[in-house]
Amino acid sequence: MSNPIQVLVVDDEDYVRNSLVDLLEADGCVAQAASSGEEALERVRAGGELHVVVTDLSMGGMSGSTLLAQLQMILPELPAIVLTGVGTVRDAVACMKAGAYDYVAKPVDPEEFLVLIRKAAEHRHLVGEVKRLRSQVDQLQGPSVIVGESAAIREVVRLIADVAPTDATVLVLGESGTGKELVAQEIHRLSDRARKPFVRVNCGAIAEGLFESEFFGHRRGSFTGATEDRTGRFAEAHGGTLALDEIGTLKLEAQAKLLRVLESGEYSVVGESKTRHSDVRVVAITNEDLTTRVRDGHFREDLFYRLNVLPIEVPQLADRKSDIPLLVEHFLKTFRDKGRCRLVEIEPAAQAALGRYDWPGNIRELRNVIERATILERSDVLSSATIDRILNQGMALPRGETLGDNLNIRQRVEALERRLILEALKRTHGKKKEAAQYLGIDYRNFAYYLKKHELS
Ligand SMILES: Nc1ncnc2c1ncn2[C@@H]1O[C@H](COP(=O)(O)OP(=O)(O)OP(=O)(O)O)[C@@H](O)[C@H]1O
Ligand SMILES: [Mg+2]
Repeated sequence: MSNPIQVLVVDDEDYVRNSLVDLLEADGCVAQAASSGEEALERVRAGGELHVVVTDLSMGGMSGSTLLAQLQMILPELPAIVLTGVGTVRDAVACMKAGAYDYVAKPVDPEEFLVLIRKAAEHRHLVGEVKRLRSQVDQLQGPSVIVGESAAIREVVRLIADVAPTDATVLVLGESGTGKELVAQEIHRLSDRARKPFVRVNCGAIAEGLFESEFFGHRRGSFTGATEDRTGRFAEAHGGTLALDEIGTLKLEAQAKLLRVLESGEYSVVGESKTRHSDVRVVAITNEDLTTRVRDGHFREDLFYRLNVLPIEVPQLADRKSDIPLLVEHFLKTFRDKGRCRLVEIEPAAQAALGRYDWPGNIRELRNVIERATILERSDVLSSATIDRILNQGMALPRGETLGDNLNIRQRVEALERRLILEALKRTHGKKKEAAQYLGIDYRNFAYYLKKHELS
């Protein structure tokens, strides 16, 4: 990082505040000071570049932990370092749990303090970088196209074309990685709403109790922690399409609230009394069997019927293997266009190996395999040796095959591991806790395997 690090120091003791500011400035940082949590918030709200905040915990007025909580809402990416005196170490631990970056004990050791500031600023920089690259990647992926000529995928494409121009609610079903999100985008792209926003919400990521705030928005001050006005998803998607991903994970209480809007077409922003008119096309997405969830009492039957007006079932890749060559060609072209690959051809034996494999992770897994191949392959022809290596490394034997030539025990054990994990996830519909139980290991261990096999 070449620009100076911008730090905000918050402490109600003049001596501490001034000496930290001096220390930081002597080290080449740009430091601002605030003598209370309120003043700090005001400065942050005023905008301007800021990389790290350092705050005392016990101050008159707003406490350091309240300040942290507020900052988390306004600038979740801003790392905060907490200053602790004797007796407040436990509070510091609580702050760490609440999202503080780190803590420093008073009296402050200058060296240690400056190292921490640099680490925090670097962290902030990297988080920003990842975000920027992600959005670039998203843009590069360009307009969505559904590749495939199998009867199964043609049926899906036909259904999409039929339902897109209507305003009807669509329920997109299918296993993980089959292309459900792509289908939802395509419905939007081919609809009259195409020029308006497409907004996707992951229902599984909404904290309990925050459903209304997320979907309807809130006014500043309408509840503790609501420091700013927030636009809800219905308003964001106004005139366009609202894709409700992982709808099966929505809690019953939230389901009731969603149903009410879908039926009345009206909602109100939290903290506002007037009702607003909702104008969104809803596409719900799930990889769970919702009828089972209805039967088990986890999903409201009335909401299910409301969403299930037009179901579109996206087939698994194993049921449309004839599309594999086209998909491979499509992914190779995508990677070539990004300048990351020079593969132009694929050996017939490699194609055959891809066709024998049964793709528990569906198209996403195929895409990953091809991406790995573009990295590993040294020539401009994708060889069966490379494909075999990838399939053997990460995955077990295709069903019904004999042991073959690869007797490397470590590779084979790893392959089996990966396969068991995918199978457990499949049987538990992606529920990690249950999958861990299935495999007889604890959750942390399971998380380790997910990471190891790049499945998270
Ligand atoms: N028919 C297709 N043609 C081209 N690319 C596809 C197709 N189907 C899926 N993909 C690609 O495969 C990847 C996974 O697709 P997507 O995210 O839509 O799956 P999903 O069903 O939503 O998975 P999950 O249930 O895990 O969220 C994406 O990179 C997507 O672009
Ligand atoms: Mg998805």
